[in-house]
Amino acid sequence: MVMRTLLCLCAIALWTGPRSAAATRQAVLSAQAPHTQSVTCPGYVAGNVSQTGDGFTAELTLAGPPCALYGRDIKRLELGVRFDTKNRLHVHIKDSDGQQFQIPHGVIALDPGYGVRNASSSLWFDYFHDDSSGFGFRVSRGDQVIFDTVGHPLIFEDQYIEVTSNLPANANIYGMGESPDFFRRNPANTIKTLWNRGSPDLLQQNVYGSHSIYMELRDGLFHGAYLHNSHGMDIVLANSTIQYRVLGGTADLYFFGGPSALDVIDQYTELVGRPSRIPYWALGFHNCRYGYKSVYEVNSVIAKYSEANIPLEVAWTDIDYMDRTRDFTFDPVNFPLAEMQKQLAYLHERGQKMVLITDPAILYNSSYEVYARGHAKDVFIKNTDGSEFIGQVWPGYTVFPDWFAHNTSSWWSGELKRYFDQLPIDGMWIDMNEAASFCTGSCGTGKSAGSVPPYPWTLDPQPPHRIINSSDTLLVPPYAIHNREVELSDLTIETTAKHANGASEYHVHNLYGHMESRATHDFLVNYRPNQRPFILSRSTFAGSGAYVSHWTGDNSATWQDLHISIASVFDFGIFGIPMVGADICGFFGNTTEELCARWIEVGAFYPFSRVHSALASTPQELYRWETVAEAGRRALRVRYALLPYFYTSYQRSVENGWPVARPLLFEFPRIPAVADNDRQLLVGDSILVSPVLAEGATSVVALFPAGLWYDWYDYSVIKGVNGNVTLSAPLEHVNVHVRGGKIVPTQEPAMTTADSRKGDFEFIVAVDEHGAAAGELYVDDGETFDTASRWIQLGYAGKALRIRQRSGKFKIIQPLSKLVLLGVTGISKVVVNGSGINASLKAVNGSTIVTDLDIDLNVETLIAFS
Ligand SMILES: *[C@@H]1O[C@H](CO)[C@@H](O)[C@H](O)[C@H]1NC(C)=O
Ligand SMILES: *[C@@H]1O[C@H](CO)[C@@H](O)[C@H](O)[C@H]1NC(C)=O
Ligand SMILES: *[C@@H]1O[C@H](CO)[C@@H](O)[C@H](O)[C@H]1NC(C)=O
Ligand SMILES: *[C@@H]1O[C@H](CO)[C@@H](O)[C@H](O)[C@H]1NC(C)=O
Ligand SMILES: *[C@@H]1O[C@H](CO)[C@@H](O)[C@H](O)[C@H]1NC(C)=O
Ligand SMILES: *[C@@H]1O[C@H](CO)[C@@H](O)[C@H](O)[C@H]1NC(C)=O
Ligand SMILES: *[C@@H]1O[C@H](CO)[C@@H](O)[C@H](O)[C@H]1NC(C)=O
Ligand SMILES: *[C@@H]1O[C@H](CO)[C@@H](O)[C@H](O)[C@H]1NC(C)=O
Ligand SMILES: *[C@@H]1O[C@H](CO)[C@@H](O)[C@H](O)[C@H]1NC(C)=O
Ligand SMILES: *[C@@H]1O[C@H](CO)[C@@H](O)[C@H](O)[C@H]1NC(C)=O
Ligand SMILES: *[C@@H]1O[C@H](CO)[C@@H](O)[C@H](O)[C@H]1NC(C)=O
Repeated sequence: MVMRTLLCLCAIALWTGPRSAAATRQAVLSAQAPHTQSVTCPGYVAGNVSQTGDGFTAELTLAGPPCALYGRDIKRLELGVRFDTKNRLHVHIKDSDGQQFQIPHGVIALDPGYGVRNASSSLWFDYFHDDSSGFGFRVSRGDQVIFDTVGHPLIFEDQYIEVTSNLPANANIYGMGESPDFFRRNPANTIKTLWNRGSPDLLQQNVYGSHSIYMELRDGLFHGAYLHNSHGMDIVLANSTIQYRVLGGTADLYFFGGPSALDVIDQYTELVGRPSRIPYWALGFHNCRYGYKSVYEVNSVIAKYSEANIPLEVAWTDIDYMDRTRDFTFDPVNFPLAEMQKQLAYLHERGQKMVLITDPAILYNSSYEVYARGHAKDVFIKNTDGSEFIGQVWPGYTVFPDWFAHNTSSWWSGELKRYFDQLPIDGMWIDMNEAASFCTGSCGTGKSAGSVPPYPWTLDPQPPHRIINSSDTLLVPPYAIHNREVELSDLTIETTAKHANGASEYHVHNLYGHMESRATHDFLVNYRPNQRPFILSRSTFAGSGAYVSHWTGDNSATWQDLHISIASVFDFGIFGIPMVGADICGFFGNTTEELCARWIEVGAFYPFSRVHSALASTPQELYRWETVAEAGRRALRVRYALLPYFYTSYQRSVENGWPVARPLLFEFPRIPAVADNDRQLLVGDSILVSPVLAEGATSVVALFPAGLWYDWYDYSVIKGVNGNVTLSAPLEHVNVHVRGGKIVPTQEPAMTTADSRKGDFEFIVAVDEHGAAAGELYVDDGETFDTASRWIQLGYAGKALRIRQRSGKFKIIQPLSKLVLLGVTGISKVVVNGSGINASLKAVNGSTIVTDLDIDLNVETLIAFS
C-alpha cells in the first residue's frame, strides 16, 4: 500500500524537481560526506597467526597514527578466516574488545557450515602486506581473484568501516538493494544505500529492505559476497572497485564460490535461510486497491471478476477496513465485522481467499486496548529518557513494538489471536515496517494524543526541518550515507531510540521488518500448527525469505516502472525471497488501458501476481477495460496452466534457493548480449516470456539463445542463434516460448488454483535438436508442513518418455491424460510399458498432441512412440 497524500505529494515533488528539503539534503550530504583521498589511513598489520582445522585467526594492529576519517580508529582487530563449506568462505574482521554491535544470532541464525580443510575448498584466501596500505587480502577461485582488497587500506572505526575490493573493468554486478534499478548495476557509478525507508519506488534510491549480497559474472562463471551487518551503509561501484562504507559493526564477510548463478543463491540461502514453504493458493491471482469504500464495494469487485471470467484467487483490503486505521479493528459502518465474516465465508465457499493489512505502529491512547496491553507488558521502543517513543502513522500518534523486548512476541501473538479468532483470514500483509513514521523523532512526546487530527489528515506544506544536535553521532554519524532524506531519523524511528537489548535504533534499524516478519510467522505457525502461512512484508533483510514473501512496494503507473519491475523481481531472487512481484498496472498515478494490459502480461508471470493501486488513482481492476480483461484472461490462462510448473519451481526455491523468475543470464551466462537483459524473463528454466514494455508497440525485439524455442500458443518454432528476433505482439498477446530440451508439467486452467489442481496432468515435451528433453514435477498437498510429497523425474529420448519416481509417497489422483510433443512428428503408435494403447494423435505445426491417455503418475512408466 500506502503512502498517503502527504508522502505522495513529496514523491511527486522529488520527481519533477528539487524542493527545499531535497536541496537541503544535497547540501547536508556534500557537507558531511567529503570522501576525500586527502586523508590517508594507515591500514593494519597482521600478526600472531594461529591455525585452526578449518582456517586461521590473526591479529590486526593499526599500522600508524589513527586517521580518524569518520570516527575513532580501533587499534586492535581480530581476523578470523574459516572455510565454512566447500564453496563458502567466511572472513570476519572484528574489534578485539568485542564492543562493536553485531547482529545477534537469535535474530538471524546463520548456518555455521561444517568446516572444511582449506585443501578441500573451492575458494582460497591469501593475505598480503603493502607498505602504503598495510594488510590486504585476496579470495580466489582457481586462477581467478574474486575479491581483492590489496592496495586499499582497511579503515575500521567505531562508526565507519571501509572495505574496498578491486573489480575488473566494466564488471557485471547484480544484487545489492533494495533499490529499484536496472538489473545489471552500472559498474562505473552506482551507490546502493542500505537504510530501510518507507518511500515510493524512485529509481536507484534506497527503499524498504536491506540486502547486501551481490553476485558477479566473470568469464561465464558467477561468485558472490555478502556482508552480514545491520548498520546503514553505502555500497559503491566506481573506479573498478566495489567499496563498502558502513556505519558501524564489524566486517563480517561471506564469499560464495558458485560457479553458476543458481549455485551462488543456493550457497547464500543455505547461510541466511531457505525460502519458506507457501500455500499453493498463493500462486493464484490477487486483487487489491487502497481506497475501497466498503466491504460491499469489495464484494462487488469479487463478483465482477467472476462475471468477467478472470480468475481471482485472493481478495485483499488495505487500511480502509480498519476503524480509524487502528490495527485489529473493523470500521463499524463501512467494514463491519459481521459483513467481513460473510465475505470471508463467501470466498471460502468458492475456494477463494482473503488477506488483510496490518501495520506495526500502534495508536498511542490508553483507551485503545491493544496499546494498553502492550504498555502493561512494556513492549514498545523507548526514548533515551525511558519514555515511550511516539511517532505518527495512520491512526495518529503511535508507538512501535520493540521486537527485542522480552514480551513483545507474546503480546503480538495475543493481539493477532484476538483478531484471527474474530476473522480467520488466510494470510497477512505487513506494511509500513521500515518502520515508517510520518514525522521525525518522537513527535508525539508531550502532546495530547487527540492533537493529531483524525485520519485522513493533511500535513502540507511540510514544516521546516528541525535543527538537530549535530554532535550526537547517533543522530548525525560523521559519514553520511546517501539516504534520500535529510536525516537518518526522518520518517522513521529516531536513531537514538532504545531497544530492550540496549541497542540504539541506529544499530538495528534495518532489522525491524525482518523481526516483525519472524514474530508474525511464529504466531501463524503456532495458531495453525500444520498450515503454511502466507505473509507479505514490505520491509525485509537478509534471511527474511524464511518467513515472508515480498512485493516491490509503491511503484508508479509508468512504462519505466513496468520495465524496472522485472529487474526488482530478479533482485529478490538473488536475495532469497523468490515469492515476489510488483503492483500490477502501477500503484501511484493513473494507469492507462494500454499500460495495464501490458502490465498484466508481465505480472501474470511474477511469482507473486497482484494488481494494486493507490487511493487517488483511477480504478484498475482487470475487468475495467475490455482489452485489459482479455489480456488478463489470456495471460492468466497461461499462468494457471503452468501452476504445477510454478509450484515445482517454487519447491526448488525451498530446497535450493533457486529463484522462480530468472534472467536469461542465469541460464545462459556465456552469451554476452544477455548480461544486461532485464526485458525478458524465464519462469524456472523452461518458459521464456518476452513482453512488450513500450507504449504503442505491437511487436517486440527479443533475444533467443541458441536452441529451439516453441511458441506457447501455436507451437511454431524459433531456431535461436543468440540474437534478436522480432515477434508480433498485438495488445492482448504476450509472447511465451517453451525451451527446447525441457518438459513442462501443466494442468487445465480453472478459475481457482484449487479447481485447477483437480484437472488431469498434461506434459509439454519440447525436444531439442537431438530429439531429447528433460523435466521434473513436484507435488504435495499444497497446504500443510507434514504433507507427503512426490518428486517425479521426466526424460524424453529416442521417441520415448520415461517417468521415474525420484522420491516421496504423495498419492497423485489425477492421471496424465495428454502430451504435447513439440517438435515431434511422424507418430502413429503409442506403447505404454510395452503394450499398445488407443491414444488419439493429432499433428499440429510440426508437433504432435497425444490425448486419451490414462497414465498413473505414482509409478514408473515408459511411453514409447513410433
Ligand atoms: C601478538 O600477541 C601478543 C600477546 O597477546 C601481543 O603482545 C602482540 O601485540 C601481538 N602482536 C600482533 C602483531 O598482533
Ligand atoms: C592451509 O592449511 C594448512 C594446514 O592447516 C596450513 O598449514 C596452511 O597455511 C593453510 N593455507 C592457507 C592459505 O590457509
Ligand atoms: C574515483 O576516482 C576519481 C579520480 O581519482 C575520484 O575523484 C573519485 O572520488 C573516485 N570515486 C570513488 C567512489 O572512489
Ligand atoms: C514479561 O513476561 C514475564 C513472563 O513471561 C513476566 O514475568 C514479566 O513481568 C513481563 N514483563 C513485563 C514488563 O511485563
Ligand atoms: C483516546 O481514545 C478515546 C476513545 O476513542 C477518546 O475518547 C480519547 O479522546 C482519546 N484520548 C486522547 C488523549 O486522545
Ligand atoms: C549534543 O550531543 C552531545 C553528544 O551526545 C551531548 O554531549 C550534548 O549534551 C548534546 N547537546 C545538547 C544541547 O543536547
Ligand atoms: C487521476 O485521475 C483522477 C480522475 O479520475 C484525477 O482526479 C487525478 O488527478 C488523476 N491523478 C493523476 C496523478 O493524474
Ligand atoms: C502454425 O504456426 C503458424 C506460424 O508459424 C501460425 O500462423 C499457425 O496459426 C499455426 N497453426 C496452428 C494450427 O496453430
Ligand atoms: C537486441 O535488441 C536489444 C533491444 O533492442 C538491443 O539492446 C540489443 O543490443 C540487441 N542484441 C543483439 C544481440 O542484437
Ligand atoms: C483399440 O481399439 C480397437 C478398436 O476399437 C479395439 O479392438 C482394441 O481392443 C483397442 N485396444 C486397446 C488396448 O484398448
Ligand atoms: C510400468 O512398468 C513398471 C515396472 O517396470 C511398473 O512399476 C509400472 O506400474 C508400469 N506402469 C504402468 C502404467 O503400467
